[in-house]
Formats: sequence, C-alpha cells, structure tokens
Amino acid sequence: MTYLGIDIGTSGVKALLIDVHGRALGEAAAAAVEPVRPHPGWSEQNPADWWTATLAAIDKLKAEHPLELAKVRGIGLSGHMHGATLLGKNDEVLRPAILWNDGRSANECKEMEAALPSLRQIAGNIAMPGFTAPKIAWVRKHEPQIFEKIEKVLLPKAYVRLLLSGDYVEDMSDAAGTLWLDVAKRDWSGELLALTGLTRSHMPRLVEGSAVSGQLKTDLAQRWGMGGNVVIAGGAGDNAGAACGIGAIRPGEGFVSLGTSGVIFVSNDKFRPNTEGAVHAFCHAIPDTWHQMGVILSATDSLNWLSKITGQKQAELSAAAERQFGGPSEEIFLPYLSGERTPHNNAAARGSFVGLSHSSDPAKLAQAVMEGVTFAFRDSQRVLADAGTRIDRLLAVGGGSKSNLWLRMIATNLDMEIALPADGDFGGALGAARLALCAAEGASPQTVMTLPPIKTVIAPDKNLSAAYADQYARYRALYPAIEEARS
Ligand code: XUL
Repeated sequence: MTYLGIDIGTSGVKALLIDVHGRALGEAAAAAVEPVRPHPGWSEQNPADWWTATLAAIDKLKAEHPLELAKVRGIGLSGHMHGATLLGKNDEVLRPAILWNDGRSANECKEMEAALPSLRQIAGNIAMPGFTAPKIAWVRKHEPQIFEKIEKVLLPKAYVRLLLSGDYVEDMSDAAGTLWLDVAKRDWSGELLALTGLTRSHMPRLVEGSAVSGQLKTDLAQRWGMGGNVVIAGGAGDNAGAACGIGAIRPGEGFVSLGTSGVIFVSNDKFRPNTEGAVHAFCHAIPDTWHQMGVILSATDSLNWLSKITGQKQAELSAAAERQFGGPSEEIFLPYLSGERTPHNNAAARGSFVGLSHSSDPAKLAQAVMEGVTFAFRDSQRVLADAGTRIDRLLAVGGGSKSNLWLRMIATNLDMEIALPADGDFGGALGAARLALCAAEGASPQTVMTLPPIKTVIAPDKNLSAAYADQYARYRALYPAIEEARS
C-alpha cells in the first residue's frame, strides 16, 4: 500500500509517494505560474493554475512510478495558507485568489478589530492582512458585485481538494489562518464570520488533518490507475504539514523554514496566543495540538529579488557570499519587501539596504540579505520567548537550508543548534503523505510523525556571537527610524 502527499506551494506543486513505513518511493514536481502583483503589495494567483500543476505532478509520478501509484490508498494535501479562493454558483471562481503575501487589507484589519474588541481573544491572532477574513472585507468594500456572488470561500488546498473529491472540507491548521476560527475551540466562530458578512454556510466543513475528508473521484482514480476507495485526509497548512514531515508534533519541537516565506514553528500542547508580539497561534494538523509561528514574509524571496535585479542565480549569489564571508557585513538589509508580519505586523513596511559603499558588490549584498532574514528570525525567536515558549529542537527545512552559511548565521543568531535532515523531502509533501497514512489506516500520528535521519547539526559560532549581537542591535534600531522617515 502507498500514500500520496501533495504540497501546493506558491511556486509549484510537489507530489511524494511513501510506503506504509513512511519511506519515500518517488516524487514529482510541476512549476506553478508565479503570483502576479497588479499593484505594489498585492499578490494574486489563478486557482486553475494550482489544479493544472497538481495534475501535471501526479501524471509525472504515474509515468515514472505507475505500479507504486496504483497502490495508493490515501492522499494528503498541504498548501500555502490564507489564500482567499472565492467561489460562486457551480463552483465558479469569481476572481484570482488573493494570497498570503498580499498586504492590501490593512485598513480592513483595523476596522475589524475596532468593530469586535474580542477578535484577538477568539481568533488568538491579530487581524493581519495576510489572513483570509480581512481579504474578504476588502472585496466586500471594493468589489461588492463579486462579494454578493460568494457561495463558498476556500483556501488553496481546499480548492484542489474540491476538484479531487467534490467536497468542501478544510483541516484545522489551515482553517486557523483564516481569522474565522475560534482557535481554542477548533470550530468556526459565528461572531468572526459575521464581521465580514459571512455565515457558516460559506465555510467548508472542518476535520482534523489526520482524519478522512472524503474520497478521490472515480475518473481521477482511473486516470492514475488507482483502485476504488482512495481516501483524502484533511491535510495541513504548509507549515503544519512541514512539521508533520519532520516529526515536530510534541511541545517544544519545531523548525526554521527558509522558503519563499520564513517561519519559526514550535508545537504546543495547548493554545498559546501572544498577540502583542504578532505571534501566530494556530491549531496543529493533529487532534488536541496547537502551534505558534513567527512569520517573515520575504525569506528566500528576498534573495530571489536580488537575483532578479543582479541577473545572477540565487545559488550563485549564496555561493559567492559564502566564499567572501568573514563576519557580519558592512551592509544591512531589512527584508520587508512585502511588508512584515512578526514582529511588526506592518503590511506597509518596505525593505532597505543601509551602509552601501563602492565595495558593495552582489556577493556582499547577498550576505547582507541572508543576514537580514536571519535577524528577522532572531526577532521572531525573541517574541516567541516573550510568550513563554521554550524551543527544545529546531530542524532546518526549505530551499534556503541548502546554504551552509545561512544555517550558520541562523544557529549563531538564535544561539541554538540547528539540525539539518539528511537528503529527502521534509516539506509539506511528506507531512501530507504521513497524514494520508494516518487517515487511510487509522495509524496514530505519534508513531507515524517521527524525526527524520539528521545529516548534520550546525552549532552556533561562538567567535561571531558578539559581532552579530552588535549588528542585530543596529538592525533593530533601523526599522523605527526608517519607518518614521517614510511616513
Ligand atoms: C504562514 C504563511 C506562509 C504561507 C506560505 O502564515 O503565510 O508561510 O503559508 O507558505
């Protein structure tokens, strides 16, 4: 028997097959059309592109691993969080989806908090433009003719699920990022929904990530050579999915993710909000478990931006930074290219390079970008600690974790060992496949969500600790000064 995990990422879809022991049997990926930015600070993607990429990835898997794919008994989904997919009659997509890194709804966030003072208490989170509900408040105000047609609001992976199984279902971890969920109760909140003029009928049904949400449609099962009765698990938001993939489901276990966004994730045995520090407090993808996150909106996306404007590939830039590295750079980078969530909660914040000179070349700028993202993680760690959170273990995941220099900077700045998993896919796709195994076989998440083999452990570089403490203090002083100058 095999289990399929599908991770719907902002830049592409990854499909991963595992066996009953959780071993990877094969994987395939398909690129997605990049999000478009019709205005500065906006970010949109066409839901049809997620489906095209999903079909392409699974078709590829069929071409390469037909026998293993035929044995699939369960499918799990993970996906980029918060994206508002608006459906009208007959599941018609009413407009491009508004994504997690879209900052247009800052005013609506303020209005929502003013209208319902208990919002932070119920939702466990600040109203932030990244979350789904404020995006709908924006549509209601600016595109009323679309708002009136809304029959259902789905997150990206729930839209893909709808096409896979015909069901409107969402899991708790992704639902927590909508700002419509009572996160402590793990149920939709009528009060939060009413704030944006919606009711429960606009929402998908809720299930735990490790539970069954429905069954794969017969025509798709036939297309991929699968038998009948392929169940679809609730799945997870991409961060909770990655946590399932690296076995971070017990209190204090977590990861640092260097993807398009940057995340520090820690599992909690109970709901632990800290809205003061703009910490995200969400449900985990398994029952009776929660988690906290600090979220940086542009992590590898900052290097991606530098790569675009210098015409050098990201890998070349980080290799060049590593070759010339000799301690903190003279240049300082603030990575707020699309605003920032933790700790500033400011969608209007923008990035900066400070301290440029004639010797500032692409390699040095790349180092400063990696450092800026690292300092943003340090900010997140600080506010998680303010919430009383103890981090016992951090694994590194995401594309940026291929850079040894970046991991060294992070270990030094967080003053923690960072473990790097051995080669393999420890992102959302593995977590989703593990959730599929739980849903299909009734296996316990505690036995399935194990720690992967570790390739290396990166220790803090004590020789650089003091220099980085100084540089971090400079970095922290810049944000208020620059924002004041910009306002
Ligand atoms: C988390 C967040 C991002 C997205 C994209 O709150 O917005 O990590 O899930 O991956």
